[in-house]
Amino acid sequence: MRKPLIAGNWKMYKTSDQAVKLASGIKGSLKSFETADVVLCPAFTVLNAVYNVISDSSLQLGAQDLFWEKEGAFTGEVSPIMLKDCGCEYVIIGHSERRKYFHETDETINKKIKAALDVGLKPIVCVGETLEEREAGKTIEVIKHQLTGCFAGFNIEDMLNVTIAYEPVWAIGTGKNATALQAEEAHRFIRTFIVEKFSQGVANTIRILYGGSVKPANIKELLNEKDVDGALVGGASLEVSSFVDIVKNSI
Ligand code: PGA
Repeated sequence: MRKPLIAGNWKMYKTSDQAVKLASGIKGSLKSFETADVVLCPAFTVLNAVYNVISDSSLQLGAQDLFWEKEGAFTGEVSPIMLKDCGCEYVIIGHSERRKYFHETDETINKKIKAALDVGLKPIVCVGETLEEREAGKTIEVIKHQLTGCFAGFNIEDMLNVTIAYEPVWAIGTGKNATALQAEEAHRFIRTFIVEKFSQGVANTIRILYGGSVKPANIKELLNEKDVDGALVGGASLEVSSFVDIVKNSI
């Protein structure tokens, strides 16, 4: 049985005061909650502040991106070691907003995943199709292509530390989530891909999250599906009550 993982992607929201308030509220409401792994992914600027709030709780810290080099003259970038230094255990990689606005490709995402794994960070790797691709009947083809590129050159041991997030682009921030059936279809394909490329053991272990307009009202139905192991939550992770309700409804 895979333990559910609920990750909050705070995107480019929350100043330090706001971040501390949000993290404290979540921590207070989820005391001794052990049934799901809960990860908060704030902006780089508040990683430390959030870590200081949650380090004595079961909540875990994640970042939203990283650069693949260890250090060097890369103005504006943040390295995997720096994230570890802030207390991160997870890092989101290849979010569709990074692909769209910052031209990330499966090739750069592959380098980032490798760099994260090298320092012991657990990557949450995002894949998913656009509306145009879905309407053209290309959903599975697109996901397969992304998975092939993102995980090229990895072995079974690497994959045991990876989490995958299926995030249909048309469902992100739109209020229009994929139906449980649509999510399960993509998740089942992803798990089968993992069996074929790696092993049944990895496929049984790896967690596949759904992301895209997850709310307290739809999390239960999504998680009822066999291959949906948790959620990557954007908008609804920015308020204590909605995020906590999602976590509580995940069991
Ligand atoms: P959303 O975002 O929950 O606001 O749709 C999800 C995500 O981008 O990870």
